[in-house]
Amino acid sequence: MAKAVLDISMSLDGFIAGPNISAQHPLGEGGLHLHDWFFGAKTPTDESIMQQHIASTGAVILGGRTYRDAINDEWGGATPFHTHAFVLTHASPKVVVDGFTFVTDGIESALRQAAAVAGDKSVWMMGGANVLQQYLNAGLVDEIQLHIAPLLLGGGTRLFDNLDTLSASLETTRVIETPAATHVRYRVLKQQE
Ligand SMILES: NC(=O)c1ccc[n+]([C@@H]2O[C@H](COP(=O)([O-])OP(=O)(O)OC[C@H]3O[C@@H](n4cnc5c(N)ncnc54)[C@H](OP(=O)(O)O)[C@@H]3O)[C@@H](O)[C@H]2O)c1
Repeated sequence: MAKAVLDISMSLDGFIAGPNISAQHPLGEGGLHLHDWFFGAKTPTDESIMQQHIASTGAVILGGRTYRDAINDEWGGATPFHTHAFVLTHASPKVVVDGFTFVTDGIESALRQAAAVAGDKSVWMMGGANVLQQYLNAGLVDEIQLHIAPLLLGGGTRLFDNLDTLSASLETTRVIETPAATHVRYRVLKQQE
């Protein structure tokens, strides 16, 4: 089955979005700077990390809130992904555009459908925090890649919240530093390892 890779940008103090998320501020106030490493201050190394990520991704999973807050404004009514994306939601949203499938029967179903599309590439679990926490607690994440922005948001949405006790042991497989971000990659060890 395709590898499930949680890949997300996070502030040094652990937030993947700033406070007061809205259509105007889909990443919350100040949260846009989480992505400076691939939009603004990127170096050739950051660019190459992003290109590797794109090349290895065969499908995307995201949460209903991330979709709703970004689709019209930040994403201009079209998918920003080069592959098909699966949105976890309890009800089909008002805005439905090509490139997305809306999954209402749970995280396992979304992963199964995404893996079928991804083939021998990876499934990118892109967020937000709510869906990623569910996948971590269910033991369905194979790798974690964090892009730690040199930024203290001070508030907002924490990535590592609501986790079960010892939800995962990790093996560090790569650390790359640039002035724009520290990129760390971990393999999630399964319980018997
Ligand atoms: N830093 C980054 O790189 C990055 C990446 C991605 C997202 N983000 C940010 O993260 C923030 C949103 O994160 P979030 O944690 O608040 O929300 P989220 O994970 O994007 O979405 C949560 C929503 O997904 C739906 N959902 C979750 N689990 C479900 C399940 N098992 N079955 C059916 N539906 C389910 C529910 O919405 P319904 O109401 O639709 O049912 C739930 O309210 C946004 O600001 C976004 O921009 C940041």
